[in-house]
Amino acid sequence: MPKTADHVDTVLQHAGQAPLNPITGTGPVSLPAVRTSTVRFVSMAAHDQAQMARHAGHRVATYGRLGLDTHEAFEALVCELEGGQRAFLAPSGMAAISMTLMACLSAGDHALVADCVYGPVRAFHKTVLARLGVAMDFVAPDIESLQAALRPETRMLYLESPGSLLMQMLDVPALTRWAHAHGLLVVVDNTWGSGYVYHPLALGADISVLAATKYLGGHSDLMLGAAVVRDHQHIRALADTHNALGSTVGADDVWLALRGARTLGLRMEASGDHALQVCEWLAAQPQVQRVFFPAWPQDPGHGLWQRDASGSNGLLAVALSFDQHQARRLVDALRLFGIGYSWGGYESLVSLVSPATLEAHSYWRSLVASGLQAGSVLRLHVGLEDVADLLQDLESAFAAA
Ligand SMILES: Cc1ncc(COP(=O)(O)O)c(C=O)c1O
Repeated sequence: MPKTADHVDTVLQHAGQAPLNPITGTGPVSLPAVRTSTVRFVSMAAHDQAQMARHAGHRVATYGRLGLDTHEAFEALVCELEGGQRAFLAPSGMAAISMTLMACLSAGDHALVADCVYGPVRAFHKTVLARLGVAMDFVAPDIESLQAALRPETRMLYLESPGSLLMQMLDVPALTRWAHAHGLLVVVDNTWGSGYVYHPLALGADISVLAATKYLGGHSDLMLGAAVVRDHQHIRALADTHNALGSTVGADDVWLALRGARTLGLRMEASGDHALQVCEWLAAQPQVQRVFFPAWPQDPGHGLWQRDASGSNGLLAVALSFDQHQARRLVDALRLFGIGYSWGGYESLVSLVSPATLEAHSYWRSLVASGLQAGSVLRLHVGLEDVADLLQDLESAFAAA
Protein backbone atom coordinates (compact mmCIF):
# COMPACT_ATOMS: atom_id res chain seq x y z
CA MET A 1 0.00 0.00 0.00
CA PRO A 2 1.45 3.46 -0.84
CA LYS A 3 1.84 5.68 2.22
CA THR A 4 -0.58 8.65 2.36
CA ALA A 5 1.55 10.88 4.66
CA ASP A 6 4.27 10.72 7.31
CA HIS A 7 2.07 11.61 10.28
CA VAL A 8 -0.78 9.41 11.34
CA ASP A 9 -3.19 12.28 12.08
CA THR A 10 -2.77 13.43 8.49
CA VAL A 11 -3.27 9.87 7.23
CA LEU A 12 -6.55 9.69 9.17
CA GLN A 13 -7.89 12.81 7.42
CA HIS A 14 -6.75 12.02 3.90
CA ALA A 15 -7.37 8.29 3.62
CA GLY A 16 -10.31 7.24 1.48
CA GLN A 17 -11.06 10.56 -0.21
CA ALA A 18 -13.69 10.45 -2.93
CA PRO A 19 -12.27 10.64 -6.48
CA LEU A 20 -12.96 13.73 -8.59
CA ASN A 21 -15.24 13.49 -11.60
CA PRO A 22 -12.85 13.76 -14.61
CA ILE A 23 -15.42 15.76 -16.63
CA THR A 24 -16.56 18.33 -14.04
CA GLY A 25 -13.40 18.29 -11.97
CA THR A 26 -15.49 18.17 -8.79
CA GLY A 27 -16.33 15.59 -6.16
CA PRO A 28 -17.48 15.15 -2.59
CA VAL A 29 -15.01 15.15 0.29
CA SER A 30 -16.39 11.99 1.82
CA LEU A 31 -16.28 8.73 -0.12
CA PRO A 32 -19.83 7.35 -0.47
CA ALA A 33 -20.86 3.98 0.98
CA VAL A 34 -20.62 1.83 -2.15
CA ARG A 35 -23.19 -0.91 -1.58
CA THR A 36 -23.28 -3.82 -3.94
CA SER A 37 -23.78 -7.54 -4.20
CA THR A 38 -22.46 -7.67 -7.75
CA VAL A 39 -19.42 -6.47 -9.62
CA ARG A 40 -19.87 -5.60 -13.32
CA PHE A 41 -17.09 -6.01 -15.88
CA VAL A 42 -16.69 -3.81 -18.92
CA SER A 43 -15.67 -6.79 -21.12
CA MET A 44 -14.71 -10.46 -20.92
CA ALA A 45 -11.06 -9.38 -21.18
CA ALA A 46 -11.50 -7.21 -18.09
CA HIS A 47 -13.28 -10.09 -16.37
CA ASP A 48 -10.42 -12.51 -17.13
CA GLN A 49 -7.80 -10.01 -16.04
CA ALA A 50 -9.60 -9.43 -12.72
CA GLN A 51 -9.91 -13.19 -12.10
CA MET A 52 -6.22 -13.70 -12.83
CA ALA A 53 -5.22 -10.89 -10.47
CA ARG A 54 -7.47 -12.31 -7.75
CA HIS A 55 -5.97 -15.79 -8.13
CA ALA A 56 -2.51 -14.25 -7.89
CA GLY A 57 -3.50 -12.94 -4.44
CA HIS A 58 -4.24 -9.27 -5.29
CA ARG A 59 -7.15 -7.41 -3.76
CA VAL A 60 -9.51 -7.51 -6.71
CA ALA A 61 -13.24 -7.74 -6.11
CA THR A 62 -14.98 -9.98 -8.64
CA TYR A 63 -18.14 -10.25 -6.52
CA GLY A 64 -19.73 -8.08 -3.84
CA ARG A 65 -18.64 -10.10 -0.82
CA LEU A 66 -15.18 -8.54 -0.69
CA GLY A 67 -16.65 -5.03 -0.96
CA LEU A 68 -15.74 -2.21 -3.33
CA ASP A 69 -14.34 1.31 -2.85
CA THR A 70 -15.51 1.98 0.73
CA HIS A 71 -14.18 -1.36 1.98
CA GLU A 72 -10.94 -0.88 0.08
CA ALA A 73 -10.43 2.60 1.55
CA PHE A 74 -10.92 1.34 5.09
CA GLU A 75 -8.65 -1.66 4.50
CA ALA A 76 -5.95 0.70 3.18
CA LEU A 77 -6.35 2.94 6.22
CA VAL A 78 -6.07 0.04 8.67
CA CYS A 79 -3.00 -1.24 6.80
CA GLU A 80 -1.37 2.14 7.06
CA LEU A 81 -2.20 2.49 10.76
CA GLU A 82 -0.95 -1.00 11.60
CA GLY A 83 2.00 -1.03 9.19
CA GLY A 84 0.75 -4.10 7.29
CA GLN A 85 0.54 -5.28 3.67
CA ARG A 86 -3.11 -6.36 3.53
CA ALA A 87 -6.15 -6.08 5.78
CA PHE A 88 -9.12 -8.43 5.75
CA LEU A 89 -12.41 -7.17 7.16
CA ALA A 90 -14.81 -9.25 9.21
CA PRO A 91 -18.26 -8.50 10.64
CA SER A 92 -16.91 -8.12 14.20
CA GLY A 93 -13.64 -8.18 16.09
CA MET A 94 -14.38 -11.73 17.20
CA ALA A 95 -15.05 -12.73 13.58
CA ALA A 96 -11.62 -11.32 12.61
CA ILE A 97 -10.04 -13.40 15.38
CA SER A 98 -11.86 -16.62 14.46
CA MET A 99 -11.09 -16.09 10.74
CA THR A 100 -7.37 -15.67 11.53
CA LEU A 101 -7.27 -18.76 13.73
CA MET A 102 -9.11 -20.81 11.08
CA ALA A 103 -6.76 -19.52 8.38
CA CYS A 104 -3.55 -20.30 10.23
CA LEU A 105 -4.28 -23.49 12.22
CA SER A 106 -5.10 -27.00 10.95
CA ALA A 107 -6.14 -30.30 12.51
CA GLY A 108 -3.30 -31.63 14.67
CA ASP A 109 -1.83 -28.15 15.30
CA HIS A 110 -1.38 -26.64 18.74
CA ALA A 111 -1.40 -22.95 19.69
CA LEU A 112 -0.12 -21.20 22.79
CA VAL A 113 -2.46 -18.45 23.92
CA ALA A 114 -1.72 -15.85 26.60
CA ASP A 115 -4.23 -16.35 29.40
CA CYS A 116 -4.95 -12.59 29.47
CA VAL A 117 -6.61 -12.49 26.04
CA TYR A 118 -10.21 -11.51 25.29
CA GLY A 119 -12.32 -14.21 26.99
CA PRO A 120 -14.42 -15.41 24.00
CA VAL A 121 -11.23 -16.74 22.36
CA ARG A 122 -11.48 -19.57 24.93
CA ALA A 123 -15.08 -20.22 23.90
CA PHE A 124 -14.10 -20.29 20.21
CA HIS A 125 -11.51 -22.93 20.99
CA LYS A 126 -13.87 -24.99 23.11
CA THR A 127 -16.85 -24.92 20.78
CA VAL A 128 -15.17 -24.92 17.34
CA LEU A 129 -11.41 -25.41 17.15
CA ALA A 130 -11.17 -28.32 19.61
CA ARG A 131 -13.87 -30.16 17.62
CA LEU A 132 -11.81 -29.64 14.45
CA GLY A 133 -8.69 -31.09 16.07
CA VAL A 134 -6.82 -27.90 17.00
CA ALA A 135 -5.38 -27.85 20.53
CA MET A 136 -4.79 -24.68 22.55
CA ASP A 137 -3.20 -24.00 25.90
CA PHE A 138 -3.97 -20.76 27.74
CA VAL A 139 -0.79 -19.98 29.64
CA ALA A 140 0.91 -17.16 31.53
CA PRO A 141 2.52 -14.87 28.93
CA ASP A 142 6.12 -15.31 30.10
CA ILE A 143 8.82 -17.25 28.31
CA GLU A 144 9.29 -19.81 31.09
CA SER A 145 5.60 -20.79 31.07
CA LEU A 146 5.41 -20.77 27.28
CA GLN A 147 8.54 -22.91 27.00
CA ALA A 148 7.04 -25.45 29.42
CA ALA A 149 3.85 -25.67 27.31
CA LEU A 150 5.61 -25.81 23.91
CA ARG A 151 4.94 -28.98 21.88
CA PRO A 152 6.45 -30.30 18.64
CA GLU A 153 3.13 -29.47 16.93
CA THR A 154 2.88 -25.89 18.29
CA ARG A 155 2.36 -23.49 15.36
CA MET A 156 1.15 -20.20 16.85
CA LEU A 157 1.58 -17.79 19.73
CA TYR A 158 -1.52 -15.65 20.27
CA LEU A 159 -1.20 -12.56 22.49
CA GLU A 160 -3.01 -9.41 23.55
CA SER A 161 -1.17 -6.42 25.03
CA PRO A 162 -2.13 -4.95 27.38
CA GLY A 163 -4.18 -7.93 28.54
CA SER A 164 -7.96 -7.77 28.58
CA LEU A 165 -9.34 -6.87 32.03
CA LEU A 166 -6.14 -6.37 34.06
CA MET A 167 -4.25 -4.38 31.44
CA GLN A 168 -0.85 -5.99 31.99
CA MET A 169 1.70 -4.94 29.36
CA LEU A 170 3.38 -7.89 27.65
CA ASP A 171 6.93 -7.80 26.39
CA VAL A 172 5.78 -8.44 22.81
CA PRO A 173 9.28 -8.02 21.22
CA ALA A 174 10.81 -10.61 23.59
CA LEU A 175 7.86 -13.02 23.27
CA THR A 176 7.95 -12.66 19.49
CA ARG A 177 11.69 -13.35 19.33
CA TRP A 178 11.17 -16.50 21.39
CA ALA A 179 8.21 -17.60 19.22
CA HIS A 180 10.02 -17.01 15.94
CA ALA A 181 13.04 -18.95 17.20
CA HIS A 182 10.61 -21.89 17.56
CA GLY A 183 9.02 -21.35 14.15
CA LEU A 184 5.72 -20.04 15.52
CA LEU A 185 3.44 -17.51 13.88
CA VAL A 186 2.67 -14.59 16.20
CA VAL A 187 -0.81 -13.08 16.24
CA VAL A 188 -1.61 -10.10 18.50
CA ASP A 189 -5.01 -8.62 19.35
CA ASN A 190 -4.39 -4.88 18.98
CA THR A 191 -7.87 -3.59 19.78
CA TRP A 192 -6.40 -1.59 22.72
CA GLY A 193 -3.89 0.21 20.48
CA SER A 194 -6.18 0.33 17.41
CA GLY A 195 -3.19 1.14 15.19
CA TYR A 196 -2.77 4.50 16.91
CA VAL A 197 -0.95 4.06 20.22
CA TYR A 198 0.50 0.55 19.81
CA HIS A 199 1.93 -1.33 16.82
CA PRO A 200 2.38 -5.09 17.26
CA LEU A 201 3.61 -5.61 13.67
CA ALA A 202 6.46 -3.15 14.31
CA LEU A 203 7.19 -5.03 17.56
CA GLY A 204 7.65 -8.24 15.54
CA ALA A 205 4.20 -9.86 15.29
CA ASP A 206 3.07 -11.41 12.00
CA ILE A 207 -0.64 -10.64 12.17
CA SER A 208 -2.52 -7.97 14.10
CA VAL A 209 -6.24 -8.44 14.70
CA LEU A 210 -8.50 -5.74 16.02
CA ALA A 211 -12.09 -4.88 16.77
CA ALA A 212 -12.87 -1.66 14.86
CA THR A 213 -16.08 -1.86 16.90
CA LYS A 214 -14.10 -0.05 19.64
CA TYR A 215 -11.90 3.01 19.05
CA LEU A 216 -11.74 3.03 15.25
CA GLY A 217 -15.53 3.18 14.90
CA GLY A 218 -15.58 5.10 18.14
CA HIS A 219 -19.30 5.84 18.44
CA SER A 220 -20.80 2.56 19.76
CA ASP A 221 -22.91 2.18 16.64
CA LEU A 222 -21.23 -0.51 14.55
CA MET A 223 -19.54 -3.92 14.72
CA LEU A 224 -16.43 -4.49 12.60
CA GLY A 225 -13.15 -6.37 12.75
CA ALA A 226 -9.91 -6.55 10.78
CA ALA A 227 -6.93 -8.86 10.47
CA VAL A 228 -3.78 -7.13 9.20
CA VAL A 229 -0.90 -9.12 7.75
CA ARG A 230 2.68 -7.87 7.90
CA ASP A 231 4.33 -10.02 5.20
CA HIS A 232 3.15 -11.23 1.81
CA GLN A 233 3.74 -14.86 2.82
CA HIS A 234 0.67 -14.91 5.09
CA ILE A 235 -1.69 -13.08 2.74
CA ARG A 236 -2.69 -16.19 0.82
CA ALA A 237 -3.93 -18.13 3.84
CA LEU A 238 -6.02 -15.19 5.05
CA ALA A 239 -7.35 -14.34 1.56
CA ASP A 240 -8.47 -17.92 0.88
CA THR A 241 -10.10 -18.42 4.29
CA HIS A 242 -11.74 -14.98 4.17
CA ASN A 243 -13.30 -15.89 0.83
CA ALA A 244 -14.19 -19.46 1.84
CA LEU A 245 -15.89 -18.47 5.09
CA GLY A 246 -18.19 -16.11 3.19
CA SER A 247 -18.60 -13.55 5.93
CA THR A 248 -18.94 -10.02 4.69
CA VAL A 249 -19.37 -6.49 6.01
CA GLY A 250 -22.02 -4.01 4.87
CA ALA A 251 -20.72 -0.84 3.20
CA ASP A 252 -22.67 1.39 5.60
CA ASP A 253 -20.81 -0.01 8.61
CA VAL A 254 -17.47 0.40 6.86
CA TRP A 255 -18.43 3.97 5.95
CA LEU A 256 -19.30 4.72 9.59
CA ALA A 257 -15.96 3.24 10.68
CA LEU A 258 -14.12 5.39 8.14
CA ARG A 259 -15.92 8.46 9.46
CA GLY A 260 -15.23 7.51 13.07
CA ALA A 261 -11.55 6.95 12.31
CA ARG A 262 -11.06 10.62 11.33
CA THR A 263 -11.16 11.54 15.04
CA LEU A 264 -9.41 8.42 16.37
CA GLY A 265 -6.42 10.38 17.68
CA LEU A 266 -8.43 13.14 19.34
CA ARG A 267 -10.77 10.68 21.04
CA MET A 268 -8.06 8.31 22.24
CA GLU A 269 -5.97 11.13 23.62
CA ALA A 270 -8.90 12.74 25.45
CA SER A 271 -10.14 9.42 26.84
CA GLY A 272 -6.62 8.50 27.93
CA ASP A 273 -6.16 11.85 29.64
CA HIS A 274 -9.51 11.53 31.44
CA ALA A 275 -8.70 7.95 32.46
CA LEU A 276 -5.40 9.06 33.99
CA GLN A 277 -7.26 11.62 36.13
CA VAL A 278 -9.83 8.98 37.15
CA CYS A 279 -6.99 6.60 37.94
CA GLU A 280 -5.30 9.16 40.21
CA TRP A 281 -8.59 9.87 41.98
CA LEU A 282 -9.27 6.16 42.47
CA ALA A 283 -5.77 5.49 43.82
CA ALA A 284 -6.45 7.97 46.64
CA GLN A 285 -9.62 6.20 47.86
CA PRO A 286 -9.29 3.94 50.92
CA GLN A 287 -11.54 1.26 49.35
CA VAL A 288 -9.24 0.94 46.33
CA GLN A 289 -6.68 -1.85 46.57
CA ARG A 290 -5.15 -1.48 43.15
CA VAL A 291 -5.61 0.40 39.88
CA PHE A 292 -4.62 -1.20 36.58
CA PHE A 293 -3.66 1.40 33.96
CA PRO A 294 -0.27 1.13 32.20
CA ALA A 295 0.00 4.86 31.44
CA TRP A 296 -0.05 5.56 35.20
CA PRO A 297 3.53 5.84 36.52
CA GLN A 298 2.78 3.52 39.49
CA ASP A 299 1.56 0.68 37.25
CA PRO A 300 4.14 -2.15 37.10
CA GLY A 301 3.75 -2.22 33.30
CA HIS A 302 4.58 1.48 32.98
CA GLY A 303 8.16 0.85 31.81
CA LEU A 304 7.02 -1.43 28.98
CA TRP A 305 4.24 1.03 28.14
CA GLN A 306 6.78 3.87 27.90
CA ARG A 307 9.02 1.74 25.69
CA ASP A 308 6.39 0.22 23.35
CA ALA A 309 3.29 2.47 23.34
CA SER A 310 2.94 6.08 22.23
CA GLY A 311 -0.24 6.84 24.17
CA SER A 312 -3.16 5.32 25.98
CA ASN A 313 -6.92 5.10 25.89
CA GLY A 314 -9.74 5.26 28.43
CA LEU A 315 -9.71 1.67 29.63
CA LEU A 316 -8.75 0.82 33.21
CA ALA A 317 -9.54 -1.68 35.93
CA VAL A 318 -9.77 -1.20 39.66
CA ALA A 319 -9.64 -3.76 42.49
CA LEU A 320 -11.77 -2.76 45.49
CA SER A 321 -12.08 -3.91 49.07
CA PHE A 322 -15.88 -3.83 48.50
CA ASP A 323 -17.50 -7.27 48.39
CA GLN A 324 -19.64 -8.21 45.37
CA HIS A 325 -22.82 -6.76 46.95
CA GLN A 326 -21.22 -3.42 47.73
CA ALA A 327 -19.66 -3.33 44.26
CA ARG A 328 -23.08 -3.95 42.70
CA ARG A 329 -24.48 -1.06 44.77
CA LEU A 330 -21.66 1.17 43.57
CA VAL A 331 -22.29 0.27 39.93
CA ASP A 332 -26.04 0.86 40.34
CA ALA A 333 -25.39 4.25 41.95
CA LEU A 334 -23.30 5.52 39.01
CA ARG A 335 -25.29 7.84 36.77
CA LEU A 336 -22.81 8.77 34.05
CA PHE A 337 -21.04 5.40 33.67
CA GLY A 338 -23.48 3.16 31.80
CA ILE A 339 -23.45 -0.54 32.71
CA GLY A 340 -22.08 -2.31 29.65
CA TYR A 341 -19.28 -4.57 28.46
CA SER A 342 -17.95 -2.57 25.58
CA TRP A 343 -15.44 0.27 25.36
CA GLY A 344 -13.85 2.60 22.82
CA GLY A 345 -16.95 4.73 22.23
CA TYR A 346 -17.44 8.34 23.31
CA GLU A 347 -19.23 7.40 26.52
CA SER A 348 -18.14 6.10 29.92
CA LEU A 349 -19.02 2.53 30.81
CA VAL A 350 -18.56 0.21 33.77
CA SER A 351 -18.70 -3.57 34.20
CA LEU A 352 -18.25 -5.80 37.23
CA VAL A 353 -15.73 -8.54 36.44
CA SER A 354 -16.83 -12.00 37.60
CA PRO A 355 -14.57 -13.81 40.10
CA ALA A 356 -14.46 -16.86 37.79
CA THR A 357 -13.12 -14.71 34.93
CA LEU A 358 -10.42 -13.29 37.20
CA GLU A 359 -9.41 -16.77 38.36
CA ALA A 360 -8.62 -17.76 34.76
CA HIS A 361 -5.87 -15.09 34.68
CA SER A 362 -2.46 -16.14 36.03
CA TYR A 363 -1.68 -12.45 36.66
CA TRP A 364 -4.66 -12.20 39.02
CA ARG A 365 -3.72 -15.42 40.81
CA SER A 366 -0.15 -14.15 41.30
CA LEU A 367 -1.41 -10.83 42.73
CA VAL A 368 -3.68 -12.67 45.18
CA ALA A 369 -0.79 -15.01 46.12
CA SER A 370 1.37 -11.98 46.86
CA GLY A 371 -1.22 -10.51 49.23
CA LEU A 372 -3.73 -8.48 47.19
CA GLN A 373 -7.03 -8.62 49.06
CA ALA A 374 -9.91 -7.48 46.90
CA GLY A 375 -13.58 -8.35 47.06
CA SER A 376 -14.39 -7.05 43.58
CA VAL A 377 -12.91 -5.73 40.35
CA LEU A 378 -14.53 -3.16 38.09
CA ARG A 379 -13.55 -2.34 34.55
CA LEU A 380 -14.12 1.26 33.58
CA HIS A 381 -14.10 2.85 30.17
CA VAL A 382 -13.58 6.56 30.65
CA GLY A 383 -15.17 8.51 27.83
CA LEU A 384 -15.28 12.08 26.59
CA GLU A 385 -17.57 13.59 29.25
CA ASP A 386 -16.14 16.40 31.39
CA VAL A 387 -13.85 14.62 33.83
CA ALA A 388 -15.06 16.74 36.77
CA ASP A 389 -18.56 15.30 36.26
CA LEU A 390 -17.17 11.77 36.09
CA LEU A 391 -15.22 12.23 39.34
CA GLN A 392 -18.31 13.64 41.02
CA ASP A 393 -20.32 10.63 39.82
CA LEU A 394 -17.69 8.24 41.21
CA GLU A 395 -17.57 10.11 44.50
CA SER A 396 -21.34 9.86 45.02
CA ALA A 397 -21.38 6.18 44.02
CA PHE A 398 -18.52 5.32 46.41
CA ALA A 399 -20.45 7.06 49.19
CA ALA A 400 -23.64 5.15 48.29
CA ALA A 401 -21.81 1.80 48.31
C1 LIG B 1 -9.69 -6.97 23.20
C2 LIG B 1 -10.89 -7.33 22.38
N1 LIG B 1 -10.73 -8.01 21.26
C3 LIG B 1 -11.77 -8.36 20.49
C4 LIG B 1 -13.06 -8.02 20.85
C5 LIG B 1 -14.20 -8.49 19.99
O1 LIG B 1 -14.75 -7.46 19.26
P1 LIG B 1 -16.26 -7.50 18.75
O2 LIG B 1 -17.10 -7.15 19.92
O3 LIG B 1 -16.31 -6.53 17.64
O4 LIG B 1 -16.52 -8.91 18.29
C6 LIG B 1 -13.29 -7.29 22.02
C7 LIG B 1 -14.65 -6.93 22.40
O5 LIG B 1 -14.90 -6.52 23.53
C8 LIG B 1 -12.17 -6.94 22.81
O6 LIG B 1 -12.33 -6.26 23.97
